[in-house]
Amino acid sequence: MNRLHHWLCRSARWRKTIEQRVPWVPSGSNLGQDVLELGPGPGITTDLVRLSAPRLTAIELDPELADSLRARLHGSNVEVVTGDATSMPFPDGQFSGGVSFTMLHHVPSPELQDKLLREVRRVIQPGGAFVGSDSLQSLYMRLIHIGDTLVPIDPDRFGARLEGAGFEVIEIEKKADVFRFHARKPDARS
Ligand SMILES: C[S@@+](CC[C@H](N)C(=O)[O-])C[C@H]1O[C@@H](n2cnc3c(N)ncnc32)[C@H](O)[C@@H]1O
Repeated sequence: MNRLHHWLCRSARWRKTIEQRVPWVPSGSNLGQDVLELGPGPGITTDLVRLSAPRLTAIELDPELADSLRARLHGSNVEVVTGDATSMPFPDGQFSGGVSFTMLHHVPSPELQDKLLREVRRVIQPGGAFVGSDSLQSLYMRLIHIGDTLVPIDPDRFGARLEGAGFEVIEIEKKADVFRFHARKPDARS
């Protein structure tokens, strides 16, 4: 992420946004006991998700962000793993559910984004929920991503992409500047 982004992701304004988004995104889903978070960054989302997850594993690509979050949450119910969510070091079906907040557009191509979706499907259990949100395309988004990765997600096509990765789509909901999704890995027999 660029320096502006690093600052924004720790700002009081972003914290306020996240305080509304973290309850909104998983509403109607059951993430279970052993939850995976993709791209926690400085961990404002992690701080809230961990309150309702008995056990949370967060995978973060940026080693500095991962180290600092790991140190801050040492001894808590969170394990922070430095790694790439497009190729995860976890066995099949390790997690009961997965969450992703404002990270998909940082994955540098649609192909890698689709690979990430397939990886999430692999590491969550049959019947497990995958929920998340991402920002919609806007001038503001383009400005804050100057010098940074921005591969926006089109919410109108995202359902088909989730299905292509093997999920069932429960819901995709758009608001002014953000969308959320709720998908589910089919049961083993379906
Ligand atoms: C905009 S931040 C969002 C942070 C946090 N989820 C939030 O909503 O405040 C996106 C984060 O995703 C991380 N990220 C990007 N690509 C990733 C990947 N392939 N695997 C894991 N983390 C990734 C970035 O390093 C960054 O910390």
